[in-house]
Amino acid sequence: MSAEPKALRRTGEAAALEEQIEELQLRVSQAEERRRALIHIMGDLNESNRRLGDQRKAMLHILKDSHRSNLRLEDSRKAMIHIMGDLRSTTQVMERREQELRDKQEQLVQAGKLATLGELTTGVAHELNNPLNNIGLYVGNVIDRIHMGELPTESARADLEKAMEQVRKATEIISHLRTFGRAAPVTFEAVDVDEVIERALSLMQEQLRLRAIDVDLDLCPDELVVHGNPIQLEQVFINLLTNARDALTEVPEARKKIRIVSSLEGDGIRIVFEDTGPGIPTEIAKRVFDPFFTTKEVGTGTGLGLSITYSIVKEHGGEISLSKTPGGGATFTVEVPVYGDGAEALLR
Ligand SMILES: Nc1ncnc2c1ncn2[C@@H]1O[C@H](COP(=O)(O)OP(=O)(O)OP(=O)(O)O)[C@@H](O)[C@H]1O
Ligand SMILES: [Mg+2]
Repeated sequence: MSAEPKALRRTGEAAALEEQIEELQLRVSQAEERRRALIHIMGDLNESNRRLGDQRKAMLHILKDSHRSNLRLEDSRKAMIHIMGDLRSTTQVMERREQELRDKQEQLVQAGKLATLGELTTGVAHELNNPLNNIGLYVGNVIDRIHMGELPTESARADLEKAMEQVRKATEIISHLRTFGRAAPVTFEAVDVDEVIERALSLMQEQLRLRAIDVDLDLCPDELVVHGNPIQLEQVFINLLTNARDALTEVPEARKKIRIVSSLEGDGIRIVFEDTGPGIPTEIAKRVFDPFFTTKEVGTGTGLGLSITYSIVKEHGGEISLSKTPGGGATFTVEVPVYGDGAEALLR
């Protein structure tokens, strides 16, 4: 009886042992699996770590870069501020220079006017001579009659009135010259071009007459009105007349001619000055409007006439051009906008 239970016990123990072994083996295999999983995870972690490291480095790099860019940005900002400052002072210098240029131009105009004024003096002396002589005659008549004890009031009054008329004429010439010479601020107004041409011509008349220069005046029957300055425009015409006068010096008397034509051409007024002088050779024509360019002898011409003429015409929104007179000579054409709608927009 005891052997059987013993055997039975052993079988039971063995079975229990086997069970334990199986369980242990299962645990070992589970542990092994976990270990592998852990190793795997560790590997993954390592990989992530490495990537994180790389990213950190990249971040640092970017940070360094952005710091550098920041510095660069700051530098650029400073440079910009510097450039802005430079620009401001350059603008100020430019403005100052522009003002100086304007002043110089005004001085040039003034210098040109004075030179013309000097030239006009000779002619004007002749013009003044006439009324002064007349005044002398009329007043002399009255004085003679007083001396002779006879003073018919009526004829004395007539003589004195004539003398007075001549005084007025002389005063007008002088006052005209004074206006011309004065450095008056330039103001623009409605100006009748033909009237200005006639005034310029009357100032030059004596000089042209003395040189036997024939003037052919062909003015437009319509009123030609520009928005401009009468004194400046007068200077333009006097300059052109003076040049034509000089160009005719060597020309035989019968051929000394100046022709002035004014006309209305659409929205513009055209004034042409033609002379029968020797004309202007092409290589000189390019330079005639340059300040101080002159072919005249030292002390005779300043070379400012045409450059001043040019800038005055430009200020009036116009153009001046040079061409050849048919048959020889120089032709200057001035074109200015007619006063009316839009004319002002063309002016500065
Ligand atoms: N009608 C003309 N015929 C021939 N040459 C001319 C004529 N007008 C101008 N010129 C030439 O152009 C040059 C420049 O003229 P501009 O009026 O500017 O000066 P200028 O007459 O020499 O001196 P300024 O006018 O100061 O007396 C003259 O010296 C002359 O050579
Ligand atoms: Mg001149």
